[in-house]
Amino acid sequence: MDKMEKIVALAKRRGFVFQTSEIYGGLSNSYDYGPMGSELLRNIRNLWWSEFIHKREDMVGLDSSIILHPQTWVASGHVGSFSDPLVEDVKTHKRYRADHIIEAFLPDDSGVIVEDMSIEEMGQFIQENKVKSPEGNDLTPPKAFNLLFETEIGSVANDKSKVYLRGETAQGIFTNFKQVLDSTRVQLPFGIGQIGKSFRNEITTGQFIFRTLEFEQAEIEYFFNPNESNWEDILSNWKDGMWNFVTKVLGINEEHVRWRQHTDKERSHYSKDTYDLDYQFPFGWKELWGVAYRTDYDLKQHIEHSKTNLEYLDPKTNKKFVPHVIEPAVGVNRLFLMVLADAYTEDPETGRVVLKLDPKLAPYTACISPLLANKEELVTKAKELFNSMKSKYHLVWDARGNIGKRYAAQDEIGTPFCVVVDFQTLTDNTVTVRDRDTGEQERVAISELSQYINDRVEKSA
Ligand code: GAP
Repeated sequence: MDKMEKIVALAKRRGFVFQTSEIYGGLSNSYDYGPMGSELLRNIRNLWWSEFIHKREDMVGLDSSIILHPQTWVASGHVGSFSDPLVEDVKTHKRYRADHIIEAFLPDDSGVIVEDMSIEEMGQFIQENKVKSPEGNDLTPPKAFNLLFETEIGSVANDKSKVYLRGETAQGIFTNFKQVLDSTRVQLPFGIGQIGKSFRNEITTGQFIFRTLEFEQAEIEYFFNPNESNWEDILSNWKDGMWNFVTKVLGINEEHVRWRQHTDKERSHYSKDTYDLDYQFPFGWKELWGVAYRTDYDLKQHIEHSKTNLEYLDPKTNKKFVPHVIEPAVGVNRLFLMVLADAYTEDPETGRVVLKLDPKLAPYTACISPLLANKEELVTKAKELFNSMKSKYHLVWDARGNIGKRYAAQDEIGTPFCVVVDFQTLTDNTVTVRDRDTGEQERVAISELSQYINDRVEKSA
């Protein structure tokens, strides 16, 4: 098994990620997050919110609808041009992304930037190089396939109107810009951030939760006056914030992340400059998080289409203008996959798997157990300890099987501390605390246990 297969197997075995609707044979590019996965996802989401909304005086949060007025997507350009280039296997009729087929065909050192190719250039490349489908058959020329999910509102057939599930959370921020200005005391420069589900009709295979139909985005639109603030400085500050979040807050190895600037051809038409923060996933360097200077494009588009004035009145000059934006946009599920991949370790000799998650991220901070499940006095003492600490930390109770199996199970879900109540506890009120990463055990007084755990979780913060 390669590393990715091992991560997928661990994710299923330990309740991090399940295939959606598995009992019905699954649904392509769709996954559910199990008991451990939902905790990890929540921890990542909460850290993002705390770091980028709560700890900054220039940021506010938002939670907009998934279904917006359909004109939103006409104004943003998604209805017209939010598409992927698709090719079809002429025999099996399976569809593939033309750019992915070309990437897989090219050697690693080809130097060809597939993102720079137009749809016509991709077609030409496939024809000239006789590129085949993964099944070895000819491919149709690429066609643009819109990624927006369409649905309808209205109950009777002739009363239905077409709407879209949002393709990005960003547009809900732009459409609420004026409401946020009017209802709060924000002044430029300031940002609005939100976390929520987005939907894209993605045709792709084999990348687990990297690219899915339904995913969670954490996006920020940071508004500023281009005559007062230098966009390069703002962009650079956000790049620092993103790097810091990944390497310091989530504790990812710096060697596994890098910046990549978009080329002029690759960059979206509305953007003046874009960088991707790439992570070295087991299947290669891929975009984790993007940051783009979107100028005043979106607000101007919404002014034109909604006929609403979305200008900002500068309190110093009394002049009105349309602010510009820098947008850092990340997928929470991609952060999750990165965290799993970076934490996954396997002892080459014993095969023992340990998920070395940063303690702040771990689904459980500590596991509490009695040494022996059939000794009433140990169980009672361990339960007392559990109850006295449960409001402070997310704890798991485990009295199943032998202690070695419990440790192995906790290592695989990344629990940093295993606390065991044994016979000595009954005489001197101390417990053993086993460290997940070193496997070493220390005796700690129950009265000092919270502080002991706190010090170690805080150290990682
Ligand atoms: N508002 C800008 C925007 O949506 P994007 O590059 O299309 O830009 C931003 O998406 C981030 O959302 C990506 O960097 C990635 O982390 C995540 N993302 C995009 N499509 C995704 C998908 N199908 N599955 C999971 N995450 C996705």
